[in-house]
Order: sequence, then structure tokens, then C-alpha cells
Amino acid sequence: MKKVTKAVIPAAGLGTRVLPATKAMPKGMLPLVDKPAIQYLVEEAVRSGITDILIIVSRNQDIIQDHFDRSPELEAKLAAPGKEKMLEECLGISNLANIFFVRQQQTLGLGHAVLCAKPVVGDEPFGVMLADDLVDAPSSCIGQLTAVREARGGGSVIAVQDVAPEATNKYGIVSVDDTSLQTSQMRGIVEKPDPKVAPSRMAVIGRYVFEPEVFDYLEKVTVGVGGEIQLTDGIASSLDTVPTYAHRFEGTRFDCGSKQGFLDATIHFARKRGFKIN
Ligand code: UTP
Repeated sequence: MKKVTKAVIPAAGLGTRVLPATKAMPKGMLPLVDKPAIQYLVEEAVRSGITDILIIVSRNQDIIQDHFDRSPELEAKLAAPGKEKMLEECLGISNLANIFFVRQQQTLGLGHAVLCAKPVVGDEPFGVMLADDLVDAPSSCIGQLTAVREARGGGSVIAVQDVAPEATNKYGIVSVDDTSLQTSQMRGIVEKPDPKVAPSRMAVIGRYVFEPEVFDYLEKVTVGVGGEIQLTDGIASSLDTVPTYAHRFEGTRFDCGSKQGFLDATIHFARKRGFKIN
């Protein structure tokens, strides 16, 4: 069985829920304490043994590329005595992993963004990680999913979390064989169902591990909810042929796609790092 060594980070969305912060700044570059959200994702991927990371960007997002590149001017400045730690930290960012970029020419939805990764990912299993969801966990969240895949001998694995019954209309909601299990085979997935018709309270969080066959299904997806090519629809149509598991991950998840969640995450990570919140 091939190990997961590649991850895709779709970062090309417009981030309208956190405007005006995202008017000119990509959502993934908004800093939590002192690091852009997307760097937390790359570090999480690296902790799980992922070596190759593909970031899907749109035009006007070159700043993401710059962040993971060398910065000779800055490095020259930090070469002065007393700045060794900062220099090491800056050099470390450009050495985290092999980072590649692909442009999504039109923001046609998350499913389309993932499909843009196909030529680079090829015929290998791969992770998908969204900066909308930051997870503080004892072990890398994406690594928890790859461990499930290895234990099951292959298949796709999707991170889920139980949400309040009235909140199902904000998430992709799954149906599984046995809701009492931490990991259970998925039988269905629906995007943002009304609480009255939701098949469970198990909500999809932005961490996935996919078998490459998911690309074949995504290619057939037509525009769905919100006029976008939905990843959910691609997953739903693959369920009959690709064994897919929903896994309740361990850790605390923050919804960084919303202002409140972003603030909660900032306070959480600041406290964790020893900053005083007055
Ligand atoms: P969202 O559904 O949160 O959309 O995308 P968004 O545009 O980022 O944010 P809102 O809803 O307008 O506030 C989920 C993830 O998929 C990426 C986003 O960057 C985000 O990480 N995405 C979305 C793309 O890369 N391309 C797209 O066409 C759509």
C-alpha cells in the first residue's frame, strides 16, 4: 500500500466571511499570533510525514509563495549577532517541505480546487487540508487520518466532529454504519442539510485523505450548492467504489473561516504560547 506523502492545501477562495481582512490578503495568510494560518497547516502535514505540499492559489496570492521562499534581504539583516533564533526560524519556513503551487484560474469551488491538483498528485493517495479549520491536537490531525488509512489497508478517510443538532446546516454531514464508533465506514454525505433531515450530527472538518480515484469522480461533478463544484458531491459519488471512513479525530478544532472562530483560535494559541490575555 502506498503511503501518503503528498498534501493539497486549497487556498484560492475569496474568504468573504472574514472581509474586509481578506480584501487584499489571502485568508490563509492572516496571522494567528505571529504565524500565517497556512503555516500551521504545513507544519501539521510535516509532523505526519508528508513531504510534498501543493498549495492551490489564485491570482494576487503570490504572497503565499513569498512566505515559503527564501528572503535574502531579510536573512542578511538577521545575520547580525543576537538575531540567530529569528534567522533560524525564517530559514526553517523555506525548508519545511517541498512546496509547489498551482493556480486555480477561476474560483469554481473546493471540488474544482482539489481537481486542479490532479496533474501533480497523479496516481497516489493524498491529503487535503483547509486553513479554515485549525486543529490543536496531541498528534497531527492529518496524521491521525493517514494512520486510519494504514490500519484499514487503504481507502479514503475524512475527519468528522459531532456538532450541535441545530448546526448541521453549516457543514457537510455524513451517514455511517455505526455512529457510536470513532471510525466507521461512510454511506452518504450531504452538504449543509437542514437539522430536520440531517442523517447525523457528524460534521466534516477540513482534513481528508483520498485515494486518487476521487479525481475521476470530481471530474464528473457538475455545479451544485452555491453555484460551485462541491467536494462533497465528488465524495458522495465515490462511496460505492472507494471504501471511505469517517473518523472522529482527537483535538480541538477552530473554525478559522469565521471571525469568531479566528479570534478564538488566536486567543487559544496565544495562551498556549504563554502570552498574557488581559
Ligand atoms: P470556503 O467554502 O470557506 O470558501 O472554501 P472561501 O471563499 O474560502 O470563504 P467564504 O465562504 O467566502 O468566506 C473552503 C476552502 O476551499 C478553498 C478556500 O480557500 C478554503 O480554504 N477554495 C474554495 C478554493 O481553493 N477554491 C475555490 O474555488 C473555493
